Amino acid sequence: GVVVGTAAAGGGHLGTGRDPFQVDERYRALVGSEFSSVTPENQLKWEYVHPERDGYTFEAADDVVDFAQEHGMVVRGHTLLWHSQNPAWLEQGDYSPAELREILHEHVTTVVGRYAGRVAQWDVANEIIDERGRLRTQENIWLRELGPGVIADAFRWAHEADPDALLFLNDYDAEVVNAKSDAYLALATDLLAQGVPVHGFGVQGHLVLERDPPGEGLAANLQRFADLGLATAVTEADVRMVLEDGRATPEQLALQGEYYANLVAGCLAVAGCDSITLWGFTDRYSWVPSWFEGLGAATVLTEDYVPKPAYDAVAAALEES
Ligand code: G3I
Repeated sequence: GVVVGTAAAGGGHLGTGRDPFQVDERYRALVGSEFSSVTPENQLKWEYVHPERDGYTFEAADDVVDFAQEHGMVVRGHTLLWHSQNPAWLEQGDYSPAELREILHEHVTTVVGRYAGRVAQWDVANEIIDERGRLRTQENIWLRELGPGVIADAFRWAHEADPDALLFLNDYDAEVVNAKSDAYLALATDLLAQGVPVHGFGVQGHLVLERDPPGEGLAANLQRFADLGLATAVTEADVRMVLEDGRATPEQLALQGEYYANLVAGCLAVAGCDSITLWGFTDRYSWVPSWFEGLGAATVLTEDYVPKPAYDAVAAALEES
């Protein structure tokens, strides 16, 4: 059956704050009781886990992985090759291509190896293609300095470090058939033809009420990847909206429920789409308001943990499967 997960809110340990997952008992308990899969929201990103060239900090990520094990939950690892949230020592360092290759190899080997057998899926390559369907060869340090061949390398190194982990390409705005998802289909086809151990394609599912169609068209898109023999997943679902005076209207919340239901139904309609992750489950810790001024209410529970129509919509859509 399908596994339903959440992001575990975290990333506060770069400053003075600790992770909500570590300090909010109510939140933590709900992660364990409501979900069967968990993704560290930030705790495995380079900036957090590899803050110095010769130093790793695994405490916050370990906490999530240990919790998952205690609760019989699956862990999705996020992420290994990305253009964002890289430490300054990496982005601003002056390394030769050979040194960069070795840095990436060591990182992938160390991080994937540490969690071998405990992290079931990895978003190996995250957001490597832009909306026009082109590789992000400028912003992404790896693609810029090492060329597109580094994508295959990262998958191979991750596979060596944990042969049992399912290895994913992952991106946003790739839910439906469009230039970006077309480019991923071509990339996946090419990697598979080279024998690269790529196992899945994840669509993040960060939808916008006023921008996106209501989550339809997902199944038709994912089916193309299933036809290649790949697993698929919804990896970061949330549905943000424009708030009037900081509040969502009942109409907006009802519509949001439809978007969520369509994401769930779209995944369930495709054989091999076995994993749906919500990017957080309470507005209390959603990433949205701090990123988009005036937008919010993106998750299925209010800041006070009151279920919204979206909560029931997700439950009903899962029920129907
Ligand atoms: O570490 C500081 C902390 O010390 C300080 O107290 C706090 C104050 O706001 O900021 C903290 O860092 C922030 C961190 O989240 C933890 O809250 C960073 O500034 C902020 O950039 C970071 O944002 C994360 C974002 O990725 C960064 O790109 C979001 O939490 C996280 O939800 C978001 O997740 C991404 C996925 O990885 C990839 N797909 C898109 C998705 C949404 O942007």
